[in-house]
Amino acid sequence: MPDKSVSYWSDAKQGLRAVELRAAGFEPAEAVKTNAVVTIANAYTNAHRCNNRVRRIADLLVDAVASTGGQGLLVGAPAVSDALTQGTENAGYSLVSRDLMADCMETGHHAHHGNAMIVVSGCDKTGAAALMPLARTNAFGLVVYPGTSSPGRVDFEPWASKGNNLTIMDYMEASAAREAGRVSDDELTSLQRCVMPGSGTCGAMFTANTMSTIAEAIGMMLPRGASHPADYDAASDIHDDVKNQALASVKALYRLMEMGVRPRDIMVRDAFENAVTTAYAMGGSTNLYLHVLAIAREAGVPFTIEDIQRIGERVPLIANLQPHGVYAMVSLHQVGGVPVVMKALLEAGLLHGDVMTVTGRTLAENLAEVALPENLPEQDVVFPIARPLAAPGNHISVLTGSLAPESCLLKLSGKSLEDGEFRGKAKVFDSEQAAIAALRDGSVIAGDVVVVRHVGPVGAPGMPEMVHLTIQLQGRGLGKEVALITDGRFSGVSHGILVGHICPEGAKGGPIGVVRDGDTIVINPNTRRLDLDITPDEMAARMARLVTPALSDVAESSVLGKYRRLVSSAHYGCVL
Ligand code: FES
Repeated sequence: MPDKSVSYWSDAKQGLRAVELRAAGFEPAEAVKTNAVVTIANAYTNAHRCNNRVRRIADLLVDAVASTGGQGLLVGAPAVSDALTQGTENAGYSLVSRDLMADCMETGHHAHHGNAMIVVSGCDKTGAAALMPLARTNAFGLVVYPGTSSPGRVDFEPWASKGNNLTIMDYMEASAAREAGRVSDDELTSLQRCVMPGSGTCGAMFTANTMSTIAEAIGMMLPRGASHPADYDAASDIHDDVKNQALASVKALYRLMEMGVRPRDIMVRDAFENAVTTAYAMGGSTNLYLHVLAIAREAGVPFTIEDIQRIGERVPLIANLQPHGVYAMVSLHQVGGVPVVMKALLEAGLLHGDVMTVTGRTLAENLAEVALPENLPEQDVVFPIARPLAAPGNHISVLTGSLAPESCLLKLSGKSLEDGEFRGKAKVFDSEQAAIAALRDGSVIAGDVVVVRHVGPVGAPGMPEMVHLTIQLQGRGLGKEVALITDGRFSGVSHGILVGHICPEGAKGGPIGVVRDGDTIVINPNTRRLDLDITPDEMAARMARLVTPALSDVAESSVLGKYRRLVSSAHYGCVL
């Protein structure tokens, strides 16, 4: 238990503290008796379906802490929805909110003299932010996930054959297909009504579920906590699996305090390797590269983008989840959740089994009773290691080259390029909106490489996701024939031939700034290169003449202005 002799709350019957407590509705004598002050850090908002159940969960946690004689104190943080910001002028606030949330949680925890912390995550960036204050403060603690959206179904093709596995990705791609005349209004309306029957994060292996997977696989969330549905439908209470996770998490927290196990005892280097291995085997989002590097930095664990690359080279893709596969996250939950994937990886020698987790037991102990995918009743959600969906190294790769001297990420989602490389003609844009407009007017054709630049962490600022552009490419049937390269990011929903996170970014004088319409660009996953097909002399001459464009107009004192001044490149996780 925490040492109460040094606790702020141990003097709570006296003077000003008693006044403050009474005014806030607490009984000072009870506060003195309490054996732990637990920060319930949560990003609640009623603005969107990803985090609108968080308040209910946070209240449940407060009650559960109180029932053990402790005191749960709510600390809030902004929960930015990617669905609400992508493609808009406010898209930069998404990545920026990751660090802002972590700061809010750290501030509330220390200012309220917390001994421990339970973080309720949710939409994409909240998942990354959840682990950052735990690693930073090293307060006893763990993460609870509010859950992902239940998938829907319709009775017309090509979606009927997906059964009960439709997600937001299906609606977005159908919406783009409608624009291209490939889907009727009635079908689109039906999809709009049916893809998401209730609350929860985007329902497959997109960024929110990638980060919940990371939290579970790194050992900071109870087993099977990364995949539960948020509710039964929009009118229901939170799902029973969420309630059970929340209540079990409070018990686990007290066990961790008794054992003296803190986040940095769990988030060690081997645990980071486990997290990346698991997320990669499940086809996680490119955003994991940014977030894992940021969390490792908070935990004081040396971990680089090349470490992630080395892991990806040995890990096959075994979870059959969208966007690369067919199933929704809830389907994984039904066959046993992330532990089934981890069991397969552990048996194959791809995980470190001796790391501690928030159960108070090692990873291997947690997985002892979990079945291998091949021993489950007939299912094709998780494939055996010996028969993977894709061989190692075919999901996301770190490339370098004349267009990315520092690094960039190629996302192929388990697919391979027909000729071993993609060679195409550049069509250059300075915004996602301009690229989408060109796509709509038919200026982008098969064989093109769409270049979107000056949308990096400094340039945008905030490195927005090019999801609407990738959705348009897929919806128009160009996903395999047009590549996209950018110094911005991608959503976990995005798939195709995609190169993002190009570093240095255009706004920092990166060579993406010298690409011209009609240039030939070569993407080669085998050599791990991204190159502009011009001579070194021509490249040097263009770089010498390069003038970086004026930065977009952002107030110096604004959150975006501060971010622009402080942020590092995507190569280092966009840390501040
Ligand atoms: Fe929240 Fe996708 S918009 S998880």
